Amino acid sequence: MELLEALRARRSIRKYRREPVPREALEKILEAGSWAANAGGGQRSMIVGVRDAALVERLGRMNLARFDRGRLLGSHVSCEQPSVIDDPSIASGFYGAPALCVVFAQRDFLYGIPDAFCCAQAMLMEAFDLGVSSCIVSRAEETFDSAEGAALMAAWSVPENYIARCFVALGYCDGPYPPPKPRREGRTKIIE
Ligand SMILES: Cc1cc2nc3c(=O)[nH]c(=O)nc-3n(C[C@H](O)[C@H](O)[C@H](O)COP(=O)(O)O)c2cc1C
Repeated sequence: MELLEALRARRSIRKYRREPVPREALEKILEAGSWAANAGGGQRSMIVGVRDAALVERLGRMNLARFDRGRLLGSHVSCEQPSVIDDPSIASGFYGAPALCVVFAQRDFLYGIPDAFCCAQAMLMEAFDLGVSSCIVSRAEETFDSAEGAALMAAWSVPENYIARCFVALGYCDGPYPPPKPRREGRTKIIE
């Protein structure tokens, strides 16, 4: 598929079937993340892929445990694919996805966050190309900010000076794939 066509068609999915994501697909998605543009060419981000659905569910609950509804600005995210902002009954920040990528960055690196989200975008597009649905999820720092989170990072051999910056939930869309959202006018301009 042409890249622009894929960029138009990809949507964030928040309803997943239980069907696992094959290891080969996850390997390609991780590789796509490793090819993302990165500040200074330092290739500092680390990405951990999780195919254990029970662990993804546990992480998804940890992700929501520190979600502060009191700080929401009343924004609405999606009708067809409601987010945790839209639907308080959602129990996992990863919406029942069977697989997950966790992107870690060096804690004190100025561009750690943009690096992580560049990885996430690359992974979304590779996933889309493979027919795997996805959703970027934030609150990564809070998710691992506990003894339980620290223990998981240690078990995954994530270096101590690294911090989680974002997630990509992965799986297969349950129900119809949502159509493209219209673009807001006036957001781009060419000066010549
Ligand atoms: C920086 C960033 C953080 C996001 N965090 C979340 C999140 O925590 N939970 C969620 O459901 N979606 C999250 N998203 C997905 C957006 O809600 C989604 O991209 C947006 O609604 C546009 O929808 P689309 O991706 O289908 O075009 C995030 C996206 C970005 C770029």
